[in-house]
Amino acid sequence: LWLRNSICSALKLTVPSHTMHGIEGQPLSIPVDYHFNITVSDIQIIWMFEKPPTTSKCLLVAVNQSVVPDLEYRHKFSLVPPNASLLIKSLHVSDEGTYIIKINIQGNGTISATEKIKVTVDIPISKPVIYAEPAFGVAENSGNITLKCIVGKGTRIVYQWLKNGDLIEASTIYSLSRNNDTLWIVPVVKEAIGNYSCLASNPVSAMESDVIIPTIYYGPYGLTINSDDGQKIGDYFTVDNGEAVQLHCSADSNPPNIYSWIRKADNSTHLIKYGRSLEVASEKVTKKTEEYRCRAHNNMTGKWKETHIFVIVMPKGLEQLAQKGKYLSPLAIITGISLFLIVSLLLLILWKRVQPHKGMLNECPITFKVTEN
Ligand SMILES: *[C@@H]1O[C@H](CO)[C@@H](O)[C@H](O)[C@H]1NC(C)=O
Ligand SMILES: *[C@@H]1O[C@H](CO)[C@@H](O)[C@H](O)[C@H]1NC(C)=O
Ligand SMILES: *[C@@H]1O[C@H](CO)[C@@H](O)[C@H](O)[C@H]1NC(C)=O
Ligand SMILES: *[C@@H]1O[C@H](CO)[C@@H](O)[C@H](O)[C@H]1NC(C)=O
Ligand SMILES: *[C@@H]1O[C@H](CO)[C@@H](O)[C@H](O)[C@H]1NC(C)=O
Ligand SMILES: *[C@@H]1O[C@H](CO)[C@@H](O)[C@H](O)[C@H]1NC(C)=O
Ligand SMILES: *[C@@H]1O[C@H](CO)[C@@H](O)[C@H](O)[C@H]1NC(C)=O
Ligand SMILES: *[C@@H]1O[C@H](CO)[C@@H](O)[C@H](O)[C@H]1NC(C)=O
Repeated sequence: LWLRNSICSALKLTVPSHTMHGIEGQPLSIPVDYHFNITVSDIQIIWMFEKPPTTSKCLLVAVNQSVVPDLEYRHKFSLVPPNASLLIKSLHVSDEGTYIIKINIQGNGTISATEKIKVTVDIPISKPVIYAEPAFGVAENSGNITLKCIVGKGTRIVYQWLKNGDLIEASTIYSLSRNNDTLWIVPVVKEAIGNYSCLASNPVSAMESDVIIPTIYYGPYGLTINSDDGQKIGDYFTVDNGEAVQLHCSADSNPPNIYSWIRKADNSTHLIKYGRSLEVASEKVTKKTEEYRCRAHNNMTGKWKETHIFVIVMPKGLEQLAQKGKYLSPLAIITGISLFLIVSLLLLILWKRVQPHKGMLNECPITFKVTEN
């Protein structure tokens, strides 16, 4: 037994990889390396091919420097002894299988070693193209979007989907076909907007499609009215007497909203104009406050939102006060002014009373020092 082991270790056969991926039509070299530390007379290299269910066949045999190929395969396989690496001249899909190398060395007895290498043969992938359905846009929460990845050429294709470069996993809005070549977006939501691409790969190549951005109609969301010049206090916009305030309406949507402005007078409403902005001149405000409404309409989703504000005409001078009380209602401002006046009066009275006892204030720091020591 000791002898056997020492003989076995006398021949070392190694292959860099037990799996190799070849490309159809291209040559492939299956590298092998062997070493022995005994003196030998004959070196025999045998290459065999195995592909179930067919029986294994012998490809070629080399003894010392001479190679004896199987005549059937002589144009396909070659070998340059003592280098045992097998060269396959032009791969065909049918060359896929297991290649077996056996090395026999004859010295004081015969020792041998065997290795198996799995070879796959693939056709490189052509650039994938995404086919989107429907080709036109889809409104939020209605219908679905189907993206299909189509690859013209390639074998053993593995499909993956990317959104903004990140891999997509099945989720509440994404589902995938069995082989992952089709991505469904159901329900269609605003968050699904992004750059989609399909990544097709196989053992010998990987190709990414161009990006497609599905059109998703959504909104309006977050409707607000703002102004650059007027002061906003809650729902109230102030405008100085004799001046005008520019109101801007905005809401997020696709396609852009159609905005309309409505003025509420008495119990009836009047459509004033279409467009994002509205200028309200103080003269237009017939009462002290006037209600204006902005309506944002998305003609693709069929949804609309409306919000209202009040425009107040401020007598000159009060504007500064309003500036300080940005989040207060006009009533709160008036209450604030009244309170300020009352407190001021009370303070004035208190101050007058405290005046004679001014000396007490000077004693305070001394008392403090004592307690500290
Ligand atoms: C192989 O080469 C060795 C010497 O290197 C020689 O003794 C042996 O006879 C050769 N065998 C054949 C089959 O040519
Ligand atoms: C054996 O041949 C392969 C190519 O068939 C080559 O890559 C390798 O370097 C050779 N090894 C030696 C030791 O020459
Ligand atoms: C060959 O093997 C025999 C016994 O099997 C041994 O006596 C002899 O020394 C060996 N010779 C060499 C060169 O290893
Ligand atoms: C997608 O919508 C089409 C018609 O609009 C429908 O036939 C199909 O079943 C829907 N697919 C899914 C996965 O909801
Ligand atoms: C999506 O692609 C466009 C160009 O097609 C690019 O401008 C944009 O930044 C991309 N967005 C993201 C989130 O990658
Ligand atoms: C499809 O993709 C999922 C990951 O999202 C993966 O687990 C699964 O094995 C893939 N299926 C095929 C057939 O490639
Ligand atoms: C507004 O409607 C209310 C009842 O809905 C009514 O009492 C009031 O008189 C109306 N005002 C005007 C100015 O028409
Ligand atoms: C929606 O509005 C846009 C612009 O406001 C207009 O170009 C488009 O034709 C409208 N579409 C429909 C279906 O009304």
